[in-house]
Amino acid sequence: MNILIGQDFDEFSAVGAGRVAAFIRENPGKLLCFAAGDTPLGIYQALIAMQARGEVDLNSMYYVGLDEWVGIGYETKGSCAQVMQDTFYGPAGIEAGRIRVFNGLASDLEKECEDVNRWIAARGGIALTLLGIGMNGHIGFNEPFVDPERETLLVDLDEVTAEVGTKYFDGSSCPIKGITVGVKRLKEADQVILAACGEKKGGILKQTLVETPTIAVPSSLMQDHDQLTIITDTDAFRAMWGAGV
Ligand code: F6R
Repeated sequence: MNILIGQDFDEFSAVGAGRVAAFIRENPGKLLCFAAGDTPLGIYQALIAMQARGEVDLNSMYYVGLDEWVGIGYETKGSCAQVMQDTFYGPAGIEAGRIRVFNGLASDLEKECEDVNRWIAARGGIALTLLGIGMNGHIGFNEPFVDPERETLLVDLDEVTAEVGTKYFDGSSCPIKGITVGVKRLKEADQVILAACGEKKGGILKQTLVETPTIAVPSSLMQDHDQLTIITDTDAFRAMWGAGV
């Protein structure tokens, strides 16, 4: 496990972008799976700036969306599809044919899971995944106690996810179900990056990295991945050592 620590959000983002860009340069044409959420937004900005300087070609890759809230789609502010399109795929100029995101409005969600899983398989699996860690340790919408052997799945969202999730919807309540790439597929990735920043993530970072892995904390299930990189900032890292669990 590598741990990279930025002094602040900007340095955290630059470190994360540097890591992803290096992977892209070495693995053109592979499949990436990126989280939405607040944590990676600076990483996406930094990657787009690197592309503008000719340092990386983001359009040389394929992208699968990590997850989506059930019952909403791109048109709804706060959907993962919209966040990723507006902050990354759009500004980075990624061709539509290189992207597959979950349709949270699909009438048959189990079939949507199967279709996304097939799309992943057709590209040789996920090469690198960049994941944020939720306050409850979820990765994507792999909530506490969700079966880690699933490849893609429909999930009842945890209370903490529903509570924290209101931040994406201007304080309004959010959907109660999610659709996500599962832990099995994420663990199959050649490289896993877990990102967490800010003092509030100290406690869950400790449970993720130091405590015994458990399905109660899905992020901890990544501990034994042999190409795991943790990207964090000093606030989260300091809080991690001050945190009782
Ligand atoms: C978003 C996602 C979530 C977030 C996690 C952390 O697509 O899959 O698992 O990565 O909840 O969210 P932030 O980064 O907003 O703290």
